[in-house]
Parts: sequence; structure tokens; C-alpha cells
Amino acid sequence: MRNFEFYNPVKIVFGEGSIAKLKSLVPRDKKVMLTYGGGSIKKNGVYDQVKDALSGYRIIEFGGIEANPEYETLRKAAEICRKEKVGFLLAVGGGSVLDGTKFIAAIANYAGEAWDFLDGKARPSVAIPLGSVMTLPATGSEMNANAVVSRREMKEKRPFNSPLVLPQFAILDPETTKTLPESQRINGVIDTYVHIMEQYLTTDGGAWVSDNLSEGLLRVLVEHGKAYVEKPDDMTVAGNIMWASTMALNGIIRLGADSDWSTHAIGHILTAFYGLDHAITLAIVLPGVMQVMRTNKKSKLLQYAKVVWGITDGPEEERIDKVIHKTEEFFRMLGAKTKLSEFGITEDTPTLVADKMQSIGLLPCGEHRDMDYDIVKEILSLRK
Ligand code: NZQ
Ligand code: ZN
Repeated sequence: MRNFEFYNPVKIVFGEGSIAKLKSLVPRDKKVMLTYGGGSIKKNGVYDQVKDALSGYRIIEFGGIEANPEYETLRKAAEICRKEKVGFLLAVGGGSVLDGTKFIAAIANYAGEAWDFLDGKARPSVAIPLGSVMTLPATGSEMNANAVVSRREMKEKRPFNSPLVLPQFAILDPETTKTLPESQRINGVIDTYVHIMEQYLTTDGGAWVSDNLSEGLLRVLVEHGKAYVEKPDDMTVAGNIMWASTMALNGIIRLGADSDWSTHAIGHILTAFYGLDHAITLAIVLPGVMQVMRTNKKSKLLQYAKVVWGITDGPEEERIDKVIHKTEEFFRMLGAKTKLSEFGITEDTPTLVADKMQSIGLLPCGEHRDMDYDIVKEILSLRK
């Protein structure tokens, strides 16, 4: 078990009707920028609930933050924050709106080039405080310090993190998920599942508490993921999926253990190249990582097979084959496609992605930094 320190100050306000509590969470003396995406919040009544809760506040709005938030859009918002002296940001929407808002918060008062934060040249020293109303359980962004920003003209998608952009609070009202399209429900379950897997499926390091938390969360997704996709009105299911997605990436389940973020690193490049939804890239890549890294991850693969999928019979290598298959089958049963060719992608993706990862310093990756250029190519070659 590794040494660790843990601090997470995000206040979670969970439950139906909790948007009304915004008035006790958002500072009244600050000018607030309400950020949102392409308009889902205006169609499903969330916008009205937010405006009602904040009546009497000084609010300006910035809408149009894209799925996979675009660098240039966020720079425009930051410019407005500067001019308008915005003192608090309220992100209302999915992970893209919240990630975008975190980036706005960090760059608004930065004199240098905003890209510095994405290529690691600089780290923010100040940020505008922010909070969120999360309407799409998936990313865990509501309780972490991460943001991922895209720059389409350069085919770039890069992560950034700073404790300064941890939300002060996150409202999780399962009712807001009722209007999610089926594709986003599928995405939410898969993104959550893979976040857990990347913190769990590493070296067996004796972090039993984290392992058990991960296995419990995975079982919730296996048992209730399909119901979440098929029954949007079941608030018990939605509430549990929502909380699972927060728990999957708020830092708790990785404590004392190693993490392997290679699936996400490869997936982000696939989104940058082909515009695939984030979670879909993970459904494509993870089975390949499990297959190619099966020797290094053997002990955890066997544990995962046993505890999450009840696979206990047969020789070890057979059990591993079975559980890799089960995992991909689970993604497909939810409704996801898991092969590049199913998206009409037939070019030499393995080489293109490995080249890109090499050029921006993402290699080697994996929990032991032993996944190199050739391994990334091998993984994607299996996923054509
Ligand atoms: O833009 P609007 O109109 O709001 O519509 C959105 C968008 O089209 C819609 N939506 C959201 N809530 C809805 C809704 N539609 C109906 N009813 C609702 N209640 O869903 C679409 C997708 O939204 P988006 O925010 O893009 O999805 P998601 O939450 O999956 O976020 C994806 C982004 O988060 C990053 C991804 O890379 C990607 O850029 N990630 C962020 C992480 C983090 N901060 O820790 C970790 C993740 O691994 C991930 O990388
Ligand atoms: Zn993710």
C-alpha cells in the first residue's frame, strides 16, 4: 500500500430538489457568471430552477460551451470575466461545461498564453471560485481538480489540473438526468466504469480498502447500468449512478494504489482525431489494454474476474480471456460500439495515435511507465 495524503473540500449537495439550495451556496456579494452548454438546460427546466434560486443576484450568462470544450470559446468567456469583474462561476451542465468553466476560472486572470496550462509550461496561481450543478453523471469533474480542453484546429485534447479549480460545491439532483439522451446514459456508465478500472486494474499493491470500494462501485454499474439506460424515470437508479460517477473520480478509490491512465490518454487522442464521444473511445481502448497488459496485470485481472464477474473456474489464462470478453460485452450490452471500424475508421490509427502521443510527451504511460510506442500500436491494432 502506497503512502498518501488526501484532501477534497468539495461540498456535495445530493438529492431531488437540491437546486433550490443554490441561494445558500453562491456568494451574494459577487458578480456571477452562469456557464452552460448548447441549451439542454433551457429545455429541461434546470435553467429556470437555477434562475429562480438566484433571483436578486447579479448574473451574467455565457452559453455555448461545446461537448469537449473548445479552447477558443473558453478564452472568450475568460475575456468577459475579466471585463465584467466576475467573482464567481456557476457551471450548469455536463462535464464539458464544468471542465470548460474550470479552465475559464484559471485563465481569467493569467497574463500569459492560456495554452501554457495545457502544455505544462505554467500552473495557475489564482482562479475565480466556482461551483456546479451537474446534469450528466459521467466524468466526476464535480468533485475533482481536473479539466480537459480541446483545440480542434490543432487536433489537440489535453488535460489540466489544479487544486484551485476544485468546485466549492456540486449539486447532484438525479431529476436533472431524466432528459439525457440514451447515448449519454450509455456514455456515463462507461466513463464511470473505466475511471474505476484505471485506478483498480493495476499492480496488486495491498490497497484493500481502495480495491473493495472499486469492486463495489463496479458491481453497482454491472447490476444497474442497463436499467439506468432503459429507465430514465427511476430516480433510485439515477441517484446511485450519479453518486457512483462522482465516487469514481473524486480521488478516494485510488488512495494507496497505483493508477494507470493509459486508456484515457489514448482515448483523448481518438476524440481529437475523429470526434468520437469520450466514453466511446474508452470502450474501444480498454479491452485492448487489458489484453496487451494481461501479464503485468494478471493478479488484478483474476481478482476482478472473481469478485465482479464471479469467474472462478478454469485455468488462469482462460479466466482472463473470459473477463476481458465480459467487459467488452458489458459495454456492447449497454449499447456502445467498441471497434474503430464500426465508426468507419479504417486508416492507420495505431500509428497516427502512437505518433501523436510520442510527440506530445505522453509516452511511456501506464502505472509503471512501461507502455511505449509499440505497445500503444499493438493495443489499437487489436481494436480495428
Ligand atoms: O451542451 P448541452 O446542451 O448541455 O448538452 C449536453 C451535451 O450535448 C448534453 N447534456 C448534458 N446534460 C444533459 C444533456 N442533455 C439532456 N439532458 C441533460 N441533463 O450531453 C451532451 C454531452 O455533454 P458533455 O458535458 O460533453 O458530456 P460529459 O459529461 O461526458 O463530458 C465529457 C467531457 O469531460 C471530459 C471529457 O474528456 C470530455 O471533454 N472529462 C473530464 C474529466 C474530469 N474533469 O475529471 C474526466 C473524464 O475522464 C473526461 O476526460
Ligand atoms: Zn473519462
